[in-house]
Amino acid sequence: MTAAIQRRLETPEARPIPKPVDQTELHPDLNRAHVRFIGLGKTYNGQQGPVAALHGIDLAIQRGEVFGIIGRSGAGKSSLIRTINRLEQPSTGRVLIDQIDIGEFDEDRLVTLRRRIGMIFQHFNLMSAKTVWQNVELPLKVAGVPKEKREQKVRELLELVGLQEKHKAYPAQLSGGQKQRVGIARALVHDPAILLCDEATSALDPETTQSILGLLREINQRLGLTIVLITHEMAVIRDICDRVVVLEHGRIVEQGPVWEVFGNPQHEVSKTLLAPLQHALPEELQSRLRSQPTSAEDAVVLRLQFTGAAHEEPDVAALFSALGGRVRLLQGGVERIQGHALGQLLLAVTGSSLGAEELRQRAGRWAQQVEVLGYVV
Ligand SMILES: Nc1ncnc2c1ncn2[C@@H]1O[C@H](COP(=O)(O)OP(=O)(O)OP(=O)(O)O)[C@@H](O)[C@H]1O
Ligand SMILES: [Mg+2]
Repeated sequence: MTAAIQRRLETPEARPIPKPVDQTELHPDLNRAHVRFIGLGKTYNGQQGPVAALHGIDLAIQRGEVFGIIGRSGAGKSSLIRTINRLEQPSTGRVLIDQIDIGEFDEDRLVTLRRRIGMIFQHFNLMSAKTVWQNVELPLKVAGVPKEKREQKVRELLELVGLQEKHKAYPAQLSGGQKQRVGIARALVHDPAILLCDEATSALDPETTQSILGLLREINQRLGLTIVLITHEMAVIRDICDRVVVLEHGRIVEQGPVWEVFGNPQHEVSKTLLAPLQHALPEELQSRLRSQPTSAEDAVVLRLQFTGAAHEEPDVAALFSALGGRVRLLQGGVERIQGHALGQLLLAVTGSSLGAEELRQRAGRWAQQVEVLGYVV
C-alpha cells in the first residue's frame, strides 16, 4: 500500500476541508441537513439530443432518516440518487453533504466520499467467481486495508447480515435475499454515513423483502445511517421510510412525512402511485351504483377517508349510531403509519332519517374526508 493511501485511510479528517457554504440565512433544519440539493439539474447527452432528467431540485435529507424517492419510470429517481455519490455529475446546481459542496471534489476526495456512501442495487452486482467472504472483502482489499483488519470487518458484517454460515458460498448458490444481504454487507465495509438503495428489494418476494427491510431498519437504528431509498413498491415506503418525495418528469411534485403523503396525496402522480394501497369499490357494487336515488329505500354509499390528521382510530360505534338506520361495512380498514391512523371505510346506510348530505356531514365528525359515492338499490 502506498504511504498516501495509508495516510488517507488513517486520517481522513486531516485532509483539508473546503469552507462550508454560507448557511447563515437558511432555515436551521437546512443547516443540519445531511444531504442537500440546491437547484439541481441534470441533462444527459442522449443519442437523439439532450435529455433533461432533473430540473431545479431543492431538497434536504436529514441525518439518520430513511428517505424515500418515488415516481414513475423515467421520472429521474436514479439520476437524483446517483448525484449523491457523484456517479452522476449534476449539470446545474449543487449537492451538499454535511454542508460541503461535493461539486468541486477532485478524484482523491471523490474516492473518500464514495467510501462514506454505500450503495445497494436491484441486481446485487456481486462477483460470481468470488465467494461471499471475498465479495465483502474486495473493497477493503482495494482500499489497502491490512489483512487482520479486513478479516475482523468481514466477520463482523457477515454476522450483522446473518450470513456467517454462508461465507464460503458463491453467489449462484444463494437466494435473492441472501445475495442482497451480501450486497448490504459489502456496502457497509467502510462504515458509511449514508446508504443508497436503488430498487434494492424489487427482485425479491414479499417475505424476503420484509426481512431485508427489517435489516435496513436495524442498520438505520443501530448504526445511525441515513438511508435514501428508491422503490416502486409503495408498501416498502410505508413500512420503513420517515419522509418521501414524489418525482415527475424530473421535478418534485410532492414531499412530506410518509403518513401525510400516503394519508392525503395531493398530486395526481402520487394518487396514481398510491392507488394500489387503496381499497377500490368492489366491482359488483360499482356496477350497481347510481348517481341518483331511485327510491327512499336505496342505500347511500359513503367513502370515509382517514388521512392521519387525527391520531386516534375512529370510534365506529359512535359513528354508526350517529348515522342512524342500518349501517353496513362494505370494505375498508385503518392502519397505523408513524403513529397516525390512516385508512378508509366504505359504508352503505339504509333506513336512516338523514339525507345523503346530512350523512356526509355527520360522518365528517370522525373522518377527515367523506364522499357520497352514490346509491344502490
Ligand atoms: N445515461 C443516460 N443517457 C441518456 N439519457 C439517460 C441516461 N440515464 C438516464 N437517462 C434518461 O433520464 C431520464 C431519467 O432516468 P432515470 O434513470 O433517472 O429514471 P428513474 O426514475 O430511475 O426510472 P426507473 O424507475 O425506470 O428506474 C429518463 O428519461 C432516462 O431515459
Ligand atoms: Mg431508476
